[in-house]
Amino acid sequence: MEKINIAVDGFSSCGKSTIAKGLAKELGYTYIDSGAMYRAVALFACRNGWMTDTEINEAGLQKHIPEIEISFETNSEGQQETYLNGENVEKEIRSLEIGNGASRVSTLGFVRRELVRQQQAMGKKKGVVMDGRDIGTVVFPDAEFKIFLTATPEVRAQRRFDELQAKGSPVSYEETLANVRERDERDTTRTESPLRKAADAIELDNSHISINEQLQWAIDMFNKITKQK
Ligand code: DC
Repeated sequence: MEKINIAVDGFSSCGKSTIAKGLAKELGYTYIDSGAMYRAVALFACRNGWMTDTEINEAGLQKHIPEIEISFETNSEGQQETYLNGENVEKEIRSLEIGNGASRVSTLGFVRRELVRQQQAMGKKKGVVMDGRDIGTVVFPDAEFKIFLTATPEVRAQRRFDELQAKGSPVSYEETLANVRERDERDTTRTESPLRKAADAIELDNSHISINEQLQWAIDMFNKITKQK
């Protein structure tokens, strides 16, 4: 069967990667975590002193952005890991701090243009499930199947909090909720490709459904769409 591209967009911590990874596994497609790419840019900027808690040295970052090469590799447990210029940065990019940094660098047009270029190249041969904020609107506007995921901020904060706790992070639920709200605000109000639902995306609120129900819904939708083609 001819492969298609699948776009999964939505707010932070609403389970985009769970549904995207599940679909990719089920269909034998390649999963690409576009948020990891923004996180890798944030790490690159922090490490080189172009981003502090309060400021971004845009000129410095812009000058060096062509030096960034982001790739993904599957580890021995079958999990995908992010590489920045050949270095495995998977663990480092998952912190709350780098998540915030990613949200900040993702407002910069030159960062978005470079990452969108790399993402479109990854999807050229189709068979890609990519999750992010602008996949259905900017990266793959012609994707045959677009999902827009939502869940309440409280449910999303609880999920993120559980994840961080499991990793031993000392943050509180209140801090996590505040962070979720702050990122929602920035992701939806930025001028460059703000998070919004593509006109032809199918919306799913997963606040009160299980991971399995969500995956089954996506598989059923995929079958329906590819049958119509
Ligand atoms: O999905 P995530 O939490 O790993 O994404 C980190 C940040 O990157 C998020 O705050 C918004 C930004 N992002 C984006 O602007 N566009 C994308 N396609 C993916 C992520």
